[in-house]
Amino acid sequence: MTHPLVVVANRLPVDLTVEPDGTPSWQRSPGGLVTAMEPVMRQADAAWVGWPGSPGEAPEPFDADGMHLVPVGLSAQEVADFYEGFSNDTLWPLSHDVISPPVYHRHWWDAYRRVNRRYAEAAAAEASEAGTVWVHDYQLQLVPAMLRELRPDLRIGYFHHIPFPPLELFAQLPWRRQVIEGLLGADLVGFQRSGDAANFLRVVRRWTDLPVRAGTVTVAEPGPERKVRAGSFPISIDSQHFDELSRSPWVRARAAEIRADLGSPEVLLLGVDRLDYTKGIRHRIKAVGELFDEGRLEVPGAALVQVASPSRENVEAYQQLREDVELAVGRINGEHGRIGTQPIHYLHHSYPPEEMAALYRAADVMLVTSLRDGMNLVAKEFVAACVDDAGVLVLSEFTGAADELNGALLVNPHDIDGLKAAVERAVTMDQREVRSRMRRLRRRVLTDDVSRWSRSFLEALGDVDRHVDVPSST
Ligand code: G6P
Repeated sequence: MTHPLVVVANRLPVDLTVEPDGTPSWQRSPGGLVTAMEPVMRQADAAWVGWPGSPGEAPEPFDADGMHLVPVGLSAQEVADFYEGFSNDTLWPLSHDVISPPVYHRHWWDAYRRVNRRYAEAAAAEASEAGTVWVHDYQLQLVPAMLRELRPDLRIGYFHHIPFPPLELFAQLPWRRQVIEGLLGADLVGFQRSGDAANFLRVVRRWTDLPVRAGTVTVAEPGPERKVRAGSFPISIDSQHFDELSRSPWVRARAAEIRADLGSPEVLLLGVDRLDYTKGIRHRIKAVGELFDEGRLEVPGAALVQVASPSRENVEAYQQLREDVELAVGRINGEHGRIGTQPIHYLHHSYPPEEMAALYRAADVMLVTSLRDGMNLVAKEFVAACVDDAGVLVLSEFTGAADELNGALLVNPHDIDGLKAAVERAVTMDQREVRSRMRRLRRRVLTDDVSRWSRSFLEALGDVDRHVDVPSST
């Protein structure tokens, strides 16, 4: 059976784990993309094509949680070259201001091309005649053009969840032209911020001869002339769901329990991230550590809970980050901790949404200090969970969310003194200001939710007039 809508992303929304006795089990996979797309999928007759998260042959397609899931298999070598290599050690750092130096290997690029073709073939097999395929994120930038070649009848949308680098950095990529051509296979190329769309259009102008006008590129070949639109569609979360979850008696009780278990601090700071060098965790810990050193925060009155969910653990830059963070946390706890109480509670785990909602509700101040971030959905989740308007969001200027979340305390995480001042300001802010800021934030997050985002993307995709008007001869 084919589907009118097919979503293609590197990962399926669930990861396959095989227990030691051989029984398969599925768990929700990490990251903002899955958070955003899951609710979209539940409402549509759609298939999701993606990798089940561990190497090996693809299991048969199956249904889970009202979604039809079509696994794509990756061998162990492909996981190393395509996923850990080209996607996460070349494209990821290149797209995040080269915070960690991107690594360029030709055999990683070969794997990227080969694996992108596999995803394109799987999507082509799932989509109905003249259906819509929505391709997601940097791991699959060649899929739009490959898919168009296989199925010219389809309407193809692509959404880039992470920042699109400025031309001066994108220029480093030895395969920059091929990536641009891959993306131009889509009818609509969507980005988080208008700045990302502008960066993309700049590289199109620089490395192709194609005409670009008012956010639209005219592509002449292969095939008939067609238009490709680029624009911004800032992503969001299922805000209503998070709000309801946070109001549930279980979450409310659990939030109280968490505070009690932490020794009932007056001020609870919270950080929630994948353990990724883009998230500015080192900067955050440094700032908080200095506040404890200087007595501007004190144990047991203040505590930081830092959830750092495991991520991309075979990539060296992530291993180094883990060491740095754990060393810094150990030092600060050694210095300022006492029996039964410590300044930083570091949790290298991922948790289900209920537990996250309880943590958000328990917190007074949320610290999002990314050095570069496409959007940052954790910031939006915190806001949606703050049902009693009692929370302060400290938010890095370098997140996509900073363009939207008026009401947050904006910070430059590189400026450690500025970051410390913002944390202190958040901790001591009077309740009237806290509430008025949070109300402003909540209005925004509850209105601009993920279903509005997907609707606006899919409508814009449906509206793209693919064919260039042929001037009538008079
Ligand atoms: C970010 C990316 C996603 C990715 C997620 C988790 O949100 O935009 O494409 O899936 O991180 O990363 P992982 O490498 O575990 O898939």
